[in-house]
Amino acid sequence: MKDFIITIDGASSSGKSTLAKGLAKHFGFKHIDSGAMYRALTQYAMELQLLGEDCYKIKELISLLPTIKIDFNSDDFVMLNGKVIEGKIRSLEVAKYVSIIAKESIFRKFMVDRQRELGERGNVVMDGRDIGSVVFPKAEIKFFLEASIDVRTARRFTELKEKGDVVSYKEVYDNLAKRDEIDSTRLDSPLVKPTNAIVLSSQESTSENLLAKAIDEIEKKRS
Ligand code: DC
Repeated sequence: MKDFIITIDGASSSGKSTLAKGLAKHFGFKHIDSGAMYRALTQYAMELQLLGEDCYKIKELISLLPTIKIDFNSDDFVMLNGKVIEGKIRSLEVAKYVSIIAKESIFRKFMVDRQRELGERGNVVMDGRDIGSVVFPKAEIKFFLEASIDVRTARRFTELKEKGDVVSYKEVYDNLAKRDEIDSTRLDSPLVKPTNAIVLSSQESTSENLLAKAIDEIEKKRS
């Protein structure tokens, strides 16, 4: 098969990463989780005490951008300046602040440039909010995933509990609702269904069924 890019966009916890991992495994592609890139920068800012409760030192974070390098290791885990920080970035604490970073154009440009570099050689599945609309608008295969906020909350709540995080269902629901609002109303690259995207619902589908459907759509499109 000729090199190609698969983009997957959708709201938080709509099942993008699971589908992306499945497709990457099936096609032997690299999986780039673009949300992990925004989370990595957020975690870094929090560690440096530039972001947190009553703390918003965005100018200082901007001045550090030229010293920051985001990458993915061979297991597709995000790295910041050479260090794998995958475990830390999935907390509700990081989720609370990540949309603040993601709505700033200067951070978006930094990420989009890097995402284009990471995807330039093709054979990549990239998931996020603006991948099919802004980062790779000409991608051959674009998916848009949908699921209700209740299904997404239940999914994220179970994931966090399995990791041992002490969170309530309501906290997770409120965080998703707030991020949905910020992500879809921000001025720069809001979450939208990209032109020509194939819409898939992860509402009732098992991840196996969803993956089979996506593979089927890709094969149809490329035959
Ligand atoms: O997919 P996620 O929940 O890990 O993403 C974390 C945040 O990053 C999300 O609230 C919005 C932001 N994001 C974005 O603005 N653009 C992307 N391409 C990916 C994520």
